[in-house]
Amino acid sequence: MLRSSWTKILLFLLCLAPLGHIVAVTLAYLLQPDLSRGVWRILVPSLPPNPLDFYTHLTGDWTIRLIVITLAVTPLRKLLGLPDLIRFRRMIGLFAFFYGCLHFLTYLWFDKLFDLHEIWKDVAKRPFITAGFTAFVLMVPLALTSTKGWIRRLGGKRWQRLHRLIYGTAIAAVVHYYWLVKSDIRLPVLYGLLVGVLLLYRLVVSVMKRAQQRTAAVKPAPAGA
Ligand code: HEM
Repeated sequence: MLRSSWTKILLFLLCLAPLGHIVAVTLAYLLQPDLSRGVWRILVPSLPPNPLDFYTHLTGDWTIRLIVITLAVTPLRKLLGLPDLIRFRRMIGLFAFFYGCLHFLTYLWFDKLFDLHEIWKDVAKRPFITAGFTAFVLMVPLALTSTKGWIRRLGGKRWQRLHRLIYGTAIAAVVHYYWLVKSDIRLPVLYGLLVGVLLLYRLVVSVMKRAQQRTAAVKPAPAGA
């Protein structure tokens, strides 16, 4: 099933669902239909009272969720013995970047009206914005070099090293979320724990690999070899 192109198409459509939600709510804001009737009853059961909050929160939530899912692909494929899960990692990562762009655009457009001076002041002065901006900026090289052509150009090892930037993105995203919530810290703490476990897994694997390499290097060659 994981090898079928239908699975990929299904995942693509699932990743588009939050965008569909945004489009439906935007149409409802613009057209002001009767929400208790027809297809609107299903698409937009209730109109969010504050459009800025709606766009910011929905896009921010999906960006962090998809970052965590992207980070989880490697441990899951190893632990569950499902190597084919790798086929979906790039798509999920690119969707994380896509929703990150929408999230940043919401801030630039609706919150700051593209006032560059205001934006820069905010990035420099408000720690949660600095952390969010860092998370976003670190995603840019990942998205730009996500193609097979870039893997070839950089070489597997250098490409893998560059793509460790995702660890920085994930940490900065959690800090951003933790710093912005006012009282209920449960969700940012949950994301922090998930990211912590996923990074710890990588650390343990890398330490074990190095220990194995060291043991192999000091092992005497078998007699007669
Ligand atoms: C990878 C990058 C980013 C991730 C994962 C992310 C994630 C999030 C999350 C999860 C929320 C809270 C959503 C909720 O409460 O339901 C949020 C809110 C917010 N984010 Fe981001 N964000 C990122 C980048 C940015 C950037 C670059 C900016 C602006 C420069 C930004 C500005 C904001 C603002 C203004 C809020 C709303 C704060 C509030 O409600 O008081 N974020 N973000």
